[in-house]
Amino acid sequence: MDVGKIIDKYGSRRRFLIAILQDIQEQERYLPKEALRQVSLRLGMPLVDVYGVATFYSAFSLEPRGRHEVTVCLGTACHVRGSHRILEEFERQIGVEAGHTTKDGEFTLESVNCLGCCAIGPVVVVDKVYHGEMTSNRVKTLISQCRKAQKVEAS
Ligand code: FES
Repeated sequence: MDVGKIIDKYGSRRRFLIAILQDIQEQERYLPKEALRQVSLRLGMPLVDVYGVATFYSAFSLEPRGRHEVTVCLGTACHVRGSHRILEEFERQIGVEAGHTTKDGEFTLESVNCLGCCAIGPVVVVDKVYHGEMTSNRVKTLISQCRKAQKVEAS
């Protein structure tokens, strides 16, 4: 589905701006500049307003995201249980710091301040799946599972 079809699906109505951006993000794994220009034109909205929404929500990205998204919680409850060591282990194993995507487009690594499930901390989210009571030793397993899933999808 191209961007034009996504906009058509919502009848080019401004009130569906967020839904349109979500669909583009889902399809492209980010919001390309050209797509935002197209949304602006088709919805009859100033480009600055479209950018305003695209940059306000952390779910949107203006840069390509990895095929696998890893988010490590560094909130207080997770921090006191060693989440910083877990983040360091992810950084070491996939080779990028938090806030970045690997050059091969495989992983995007992020950190957040609370995921709302402190009781099971430290918490890591991999491709929208929550992993509680996380340890540094489990990092390698999670990364391997992502890579295996990638191979299965490709075959
Ligand atoms: S501090 Fe990590 S889930 Fe709340």
